[in-house]
Amino acid sequence: MSFEDLKAKKPDFHIDGNPESNIKHVIGVVSGKGGVGKSSVTSAMASLMVKAGYKVGILDADITGPSIPKMYGVHGPALGNENGTFPVEAEDGTKIMSINLLLDDEEQPVVWRGPVIAGAVKQFWTDIIWGDLDYLFVDMPPGTGDVPLTVFQSLPVDGIVIVTSPQDLVSMIVKKAYNMANMMDIKVLGVVENYSYLACPDCGKILKPFGESHIDEVAKELHLEVLGKLPLDPEFAAIADAGKIYSREIKDLDKAVEVLKSIEK
Ligand SMILES: Nc1ncnc2c1ncn2[C@@H]1O[C@H](COP(=O)(O)OP(=O)(O)OP(=O)(O)O)[C@@H](O)[C@H]1O
Ligand SMILES: [Mg+2]
Ligand SMILES: [Zn+2]
Repeated sequence: MSFEDLKAKKPDFHIDGNPESNIKHVIGVVSGKGGVGKSSVTSAMASLMVKAGYKVGILDADITGPSIPKMYGVHGPALGNENGTFPVEAEDGTKIMSINLLLDDEEQPVVWRGPVIAGAVKQFWTDIIWGDLDYLFVDMPPGTGDVPLTVFQSLPVDGIVIVTSPQDLVSMIVKKAYNMANMMDIKVLGVVENYSYLACPDCGKILKPFGESHIDEVAKELHLEVLGKLPLDPEFAAIADAGKIYSREIKDLDKAVEVLKSIEK
């Protein structure tokens, strides 16, 4: 092997999962900035796949801002045995692991530095007994920092879904996430636009409170699929606060389901 070959060979940081986990597909959910709806879109895709008959888990990789347990109404402590820790099962059967299920006090902030946070995410892979799963969704913190990097390097990610909103600097943000995925040899499954529009509850008129969408143009330029455009949902807060996110009715992610079903190893 020549020196050039050596340089071109990327180091492999992949780590083995728990011996009692058998996970067919790992899907990352990312965004350029906070609050655009990653966790909501993660739960929406997860519950659609559950309804389609698949075994589904969610790894909440947002260590400093975990939101999945609350949306699903699950609480710790997660139980374990000598081989690892079990995820907590939501009412619809979704298996969930989040830092909040391991803390003694859910309201205690996590004040760890980057490497420790990244270590915790790796442990969600190595130490959690996921059992048999068809799809494990990884809900990321916003941006392209330590955690997405760790997940992309350490876990066998099949592909990522990029979530944006119309008021985002969509083009730049989608391209950043897209470029990061490319650098790590990870496939982008497509983009989901959240807060795309609002249907007036009285007359059904479509309003665009966050402005016109540019997602189609950006997706076309990058040869990406638009997996869905989700409306501002007036019922969302109530369902999420009640911990029943899985009961939300979602009509706008058919394309996402189709793409997820068609992933081949
Ligand atoms: N389509 C929607 N309609 C109404 N409310 C929504 C919608 N999507 C998300 N929300 C609300 O917006 C807030 C942010 O959503 P979410 O937590 O999914 O975003 P996020 O990108 O995961 O945020 P973070 O960057 O903090 O992880 C939540 O309080 C959620 O209830
Ligand atoms: Mg989130
Ligand atoms: Zn109206």
